[in-house]
Amino acid sequence: MKRVAVYPGSFDPITNGHLDIIKRASRIFDKLIVAVVRNPNKVSTFTVDERMDLIRKAVSGLPNIEIDHFEGLLVDFMKAKDAHVIIKGLRAISDFEYEFQMALMNRKLDPNIETLFMMTNYKYSYLSSSVVKEIGRLGGCIGDLVPDVVLQDIQKKLTDLK
Ligand code: PNS
Repeated sequence: MKRVAVYPGSFDPITNGHLDIIKRASRIFDKLIVAVVRNPNKVSTFTVDERMDLIRKAVSGLPNIEIDHFEGLLVDFMKAKDAHVIIKGLRAISDFEYEFQMALMNRKLDPNIETLFMMTNYKYSYLSSSVVKEIGRLGGCIGDLVPDVVLQDIQKKLTDLK
């Protein structure tokens, strides 16, 4: 049986922290599905298609990654994909409470689902999509914060928003 995991998130936009988790998780599983959430209640900067395109570019060359999107409950998406493992990255203690609640709630919704937490690489413990957007919008350098291959795309979008 193939071991399939899902790495869900907003990825608005993908950062080097996300890419680090994607690379490490893809070595552990036969297939890793990076799942971009479409949340009608949350305003995102990048459209779902833009977020998926950025991820696609960033992971090109990695053989076992699928990129998809979902709306609604993550557990329903997991069922549709026949996946049982959720991958989440943990940066700091401050992430823990929220992630703990989501992991327990997802398990309550579907007892077959396990959430695996991967500690971030210490280099990225300060990094988030929100920080990238703020620095980029204000004209700061986001060069070490997002994957090289999508740096220009992200910078352009953030500059155009000004
Ligand atoms: O990158 P984010 O914004 O922290 O990702 C959050 C995400 C997409 C993983 C979470 O909001 C989610 O799973 N949303 C889907 C809706 C859902 O299943 N909610 C119940 C979870 S307890």
